Amino acid sequence: MEQLVTALRAIGEPTRLRILSLLSRGELTVSELVSVLGQSQPRVSRHIKLLASAGIIERLPEGTWVFYRLADHGRGQKIAQSVISLFDDTDRVMARDLERLEAVKHARTNAANAYFAEVAKDWAHIRSLHLSENSVEAALREAAGKQRFKSMLDIGTGTGRMLEVFGQHTERALGIDLSHEMLNLARLNIEKAGLENCSVRHSDLYNLPFEDDKFDLVCIHQVLHYLDEPRTALREAVRVMAPGGLITIVDFAPHQLEFLREQHAHRRLGFTDAEMENWMQMSGLKNITHRALRPDIQDASANHLTVKIWTGERHSTTATAEARA
Ligand SMILES: C[S@@+](CC[C@H](N)C(=O)[O-])C[C@H]1O[C@@H](n2cnc3c(N)ncnc32)[C@H](O)[C@@H]1O
Repeated sequence: MEQLVTALRAIGEPTRLRILSLLSRGELTVSELVSVLGQSQPRVSRHIKLLASAGIIERLPEGTWVFYRLADHGRGQKIAQSVISLFDDTDRVMARDLERLEAVKHARTNAANAYFAEVAKDWAHIRSLHLSENSVEAALREAAGKQRFKSMLDIGTGTGRMLEVFGQHTERALGIDLSHEMLNLARLNIEKAGLENCSVRHSDLYNLPFEDDKFDLVCIHQVLHYLDEPRTALREAVRVMAPGGLITIVDFAPHQLEFLREQHAHRRLGFTDAEMENWMQMSGLKNITHRALRPDIQDASANHLTVKIWTGERHSTTATAEARA
């Protein structure tokens, strides 16, 4: 009873109701809330603090920034959703807030697009060397099977594409990445796709901020070839998989395209099946599968890349000694 009263008191104030309405449209930083609400930063921060300590909203630090979003579990979530369902779309103050929110999002989109325009040039070049992304994604969906997943983790989510591919087949999906710019893009993309069950978080894939045995689907899509320690990254990924959970790894078969190292920061020029399967087994995975997707090329001498999809299931009992070491 006391908790409920505290939560209702935290919400029962006009600015805090406006904050709730804004956060129901996606994650926002304090400075974004400040520019929409037109109030001073200390005032907005005080409102936010009250909502956060009542469990109505959550604080997500990301480097020097902090994002806020509605609680996604527990009593705080239920209370927030109940109150939001009572909002009147024709309320003048809230309607004006939403107009200002659009302007804030527009500025954010422009900044993200400018960044993406730079990396997209690189990606487009690399993509032109392999089978279309549509074909790779179709093969990946097939490899993951038809089941619905409860919780997915996309490691090195980039623009959040894997969240879009699997978001509808998963109750909750989370993407992590080390790049703030990429996370901004991913946030925009999942908002645009209306995927309310998906979110992203800043984190290093070598040190995931999750307990063991948590996710029943883990994806690592075109990430391992950038890493110094792909094997360590894989072991960390398997650690957070639920027993019986599935991992999908997409990367390249061994190739000779040195310019990917020199100009695109690739460290590894692909992976052999033997190497990957050995790492997967040593990390505590079983039922390992692999398939190769070769581009349709006429000219045998042309530069090209074969995309590989490896899948594996986490042992349902304790993992191997190496995985636990
Ligand atoms: C080529 S992108 C792939 C993005 C996405 N998986 C896709 O296929 O569209 C590689 C991503 O890995 C991320 N990354 C690299 N090292 C990382 C690390 N140590 N921790 C988390 N993310 C990392 C990069 O920031 C980048 O977004």
